[in-house]
Amino acid sequence: MKPRLLQHASIPPLLDTELNSRYDVHPLWQEADPQAFLAARGAEFSGYVTSARFGVEPATLAALPNLKVISSFGVGTDALPLEAARARGIAVGYTPDVLNDCVADTAFGLVMDVARRFSAADRFVRRGDWLQGQYPLTTRVSGKRLGILGLGRIGQVVAKRASGFDMQVRYHNRRPNPSVPYAYEATLQGLAEWADFLVVVSAGGPETRHLVSADVLRALGPKGFLVNVSRGSVVDEDALIEALEQGAIAGAGLDVYADEPRVPERLCSLEQVVLLPHLASATHETRQAMAELVVRNLDAYFSAGQVLADAA
Ligand code: 8YV
Repeated sequence: MKPRLLQHASIPPLLDTELNSRYDVHPLWQEADPQAFLAARGAEFSGYVTSARFGVEPATLAALPNLKVISSFGVGTDALPLEAARARGIAVGYTPDVLNDCVADTAFGLVMDVARRFSAADRFVRRGDWLQGQYPLTTRVSGKRLGILGLGRIGQVVAKRASGFDMQVRYHNRRPNPSVPYAYEATLQGLAEWADFLVVVSAGGPETRHLVSADVLRALGPKGFLVNVSRGSVVDEDALIEALEQGAIAGAGLDVYADEPRVPERLCSLEQVVLLPHLASATHETRQAMAELVVRNLDAYFSAGQVLADAA
């Protein structure tokens, strides 16, 4: 008999097809009353398929008494109940590494866009403003200083991209990483003071909440740019909006927000801001690789008792 899985939301078509051929999958999102369904039938499921975005609600976990494995589409674990899963011996699979390149590419695209103002220049051409005069000068990227908050798997690929632009790279983590060739800044404040571009790639969750504060933004200064491709929670969004409105920093490139998909109107009205709809990993190639890893994590669990990429 195929293991019975509960799926939180539709992910990409490939994942749905692959999953359905190997497992007996029930689409929770098609239930009119998911809570009532969970209460009545939660005990039937040994696996739960979700994403970094949706995670697993504590009430959902509690309603699945026979759950053995969670398989999540994404690298972020901030919405996953890791501690509760550990306590119950539930394995948690996720999809690290396969998205490093695309997320780093997006971070670098935002670095380029905030500094050179490509998106704003595109609007300038479309409005016909070029007929009235030249586009204003922008800021050079090559050779500048790139500060990375969170030099993990993705951060190291961002640093590699930066080397192609002859940039100096420094980073701040909780602890220095002796195996990397980049200078460590002991404080985020110090990193922000030094950097022309501060790129946020750290994990989300309570430990990193509002690390990028009003003080850090002040240290980045009126010529500094902020780029965030990690989680909106890492940046104090109100402080960021104030810093942008007052010219305390030069601009920001954001893929993530405090309350997605709602983006504050005050951010949308600022020309020096580039706003993306949380798309960093969203290429055909990377989303396919992520989907395959979601399935491979389940296969490994059901055949050998362990997921391939373990978030716990
Ligand atoms: C996806 C992400 O948007 O991996 C993550 O943590 O934030 C992104 O890759 C997400 O997994 C889709 O739910």
